[in-house]
Amino acid sequence: MPIPSFIQTALALLSITLLSLPTTLSSPLVTRQPSKTNDVIIQMFQWSWASIAAECTSFIGPAGYGYVQVSPAQEHIQGAQWWTDYQPVSYIIESKRGTRAQYQSMIQTCHAAGVGVIADTIWNHMAGISGGVGVAGSSFTKFNYPGIYASTDFHTNCGTPDNQIDDYNNATEVWTCELDGLADLATDTDATVKSRLAVYANDLLSLGVDGFRLDASKSINYNDIKIILGRVANTQAGGRPYITQEVIWGAGQPVTPAEYVQNGDVMEFRFASTIQTALSSSGLSGMVNSINTGGWVSSSQANIFVADHDTERSGGSLNYNSPSNTYTLAHVFMLAYPYGTPTVLSGYTFSNTDQGSPNNGTGTCYGAGGTNGWLCQHRWSAIAGLVGFRNYVGPSSAVTNYVAPSSQQVAFGRGALGFVAINNQDSTWTSSFTTSLPAGSYCDVASGSAASGGKCSGAAYVVSGGKVSLTVPARTAIALHTGQMGTTSAVAVTFDVTATTNYGENIFITGSIPALSSWSTTNAIPLSSAGYPTWSVTINIPASTSFQYKYIRIQNGAVTWEYDPNRSLDTGAAGGALVQHDSWNGPAP
Ligand SMILES: *[C@@H]1O[C@H](CO)[C@@H](O)[C@H](O)[C@H]1NC(C)=O
Ligand SMILES: *[C@@H]1O[C@H](CO)[C@@H](O)[C@H](O)[C@H]1NC(C)=O
Ligand SMILES: *[C@@H]1O[C@H](CO)[C@@H](O)[C@H](O)[C@H]1NC(C)=O
Repeated sequence: MPIPSFIQTALALLSITLLSLPTTLSSPLVTRQPSKTNDVIIQMFQWSWASIAAECTSFIGPAGYGYVQVSPAQEHIQGAQWWTDYQPVSYIIESKRGTRAQYQSMIQTCHAAGVGVIADTIWNHMAGISGGVGVAGSSFTKFNYPGIYASTDFHTNCGTPDNQIDDYNNATEVWTCELDGLADLATDTDATVKSRLAVYANDLLSLGVDGFRLDASKSINYNDIKIILGRVANTQAGGRPYITQEVIWGAGQPVTPAEYVQNGDVMEFRFASTIQTALSSSGLSGMVNSINTGGWVSSSQANIFVADHDTERSGGSLNYNSPSNTYTLAHVFMLAYPYGTPTVLSGYTFSNTDQGSPNNGTGTCYGAGGTNGWLCQHRWSAIAGLVGFRNYVGPSSAVTNYVAPSSQQVAFGRGALGFVAINNQDSTWTSSFTTSLPAGSYCDVASGSAASGGKCSGAAYVVSGGKVSLTVPARTAIALHTGQMGTTSAVAVTFDVTATTNYGENIFITGSIPALSSWSTTNAIPLSSAGYPTWSVTINIPASTSFQYKYIRIQNGAVTWEYDPNRSLDTGAAGGALVQHDSWNGPAP
């Protein structure tokens, strides 16, 4: 089926966003949630209530995520497409995702696992079709929802010829005309609408939700949102529920994210579009500058994301198909850098942009990924590992020891608690990094974490005198923190190989373990010729690891291997350092 017009408009909006120039703002900070240290939100896009409950218990709570943001709970139009959830028909809590009882049960189960629940809610509009029957059996026509709203409760004649938002430079249109053909509630003039929305929000709070995402907030005057929020119960320890508002920034437009921060957080779309450009072309090192000087909403008011369900379809952000691991590296940066409250999208693969959830909405994950078409991004090793990193270093650990020797190679510490190196280049980044970390052996939480018994399930690296030697493979990140220190040391293995070479020819090593690039020749690790004809490199390899390796020589991209057999080595249990002396065993230059 064709892309619905409202999606097309969303695409147009996003392209406006991408062309935008920064503006400056000065808004006072407001008290807000989430205030707990584990602030990371997962957008459980299109997951059924029962499957979210199961995942809260089995993974989300133990992994230290703070919140799940769940699909709209109210009755909506029928259909398999995902966007049917965003076309409300009534305030009955019954949707494709499950019943009211299942919704409440999910909240209780997630709370028991230490996970809060943020409800995605739609205050701006009802359905966009001429009429029908919703998934809970309620009949409606475009401007008549029996027992709920009559035509006087809608903007039926906003002043534009088609009653649509035609001009985003006119705030009145943005607030009172229809967004993508969706029947626009008269949130501004109509007392019935404001009170009905407050009743809906309080009903969800009575079921235990901890916060709200306000869909299409940009199309509601911020003052009207404020009035409705004033009628919402203060159910949270810190006061009212967490609020995040969808206000897509557009260059030069009169309706801005800054106007809405008085109500709570704002989804900072500039983060998503800028990190897409940064990792695709302009350089990750530009992100820090954009965060500090781009005029974005302040850290305590920004809800940030690599992709949401709209941008992953529109091209307005990276998505799970982005090349060269950029989608994962963007998450590593988002979670490691102290800006905003991050939301990780957890969705599914799709071959057309309308496609609804697989497996009838029952989300399924296994190990570090998903099954049945679900992606389970929240389980990906680097993402889950960096959530642990973020929780451990906390919001107040300053950025330290920042280096960016090239625009796509960025490393920084978080006080004396953590250190991350992100290599978004197609070549290995080998360096001795200065950190503020205490001496010891650290697990790389971007590739695994400390298993029981204190042995790292991923690679381990030794910090000594504040220095750590890292070999960061191409398009990969390494993250260390003092909460995941393996008691078994990594071994700093120095490979020395005597090899005479042609001019322009270089010696590399590759081998059977990730630390040796898993037999890759394109990501093989270069050796230094400083002691020519002895070539040398020191690589941290987990203790008690047996592996095979070979040296290769590369000239103008042509690879020459050593003769068989493969070389083999065992790092042994003791830790410390090991020096291996070899001679090139292969064709002479
Ligand atoms: C803004 O749009 C409204 C509704 O279409 C219209 O009445 C008004 O004249 C417009 N304002 C400007 C300055 O164009
Ligand atoms: C799909 O899920 C809905 C809601 O949970 C349920 O009513 C329906 O029976 C399910 N369909 C199938 C084919 O399992
Ligand atoms: C060396 O290792 C590679 C990769 O595992 C393997 O394909 C090859 O057969 C090995 N060579 C020998 C001689 O065992």
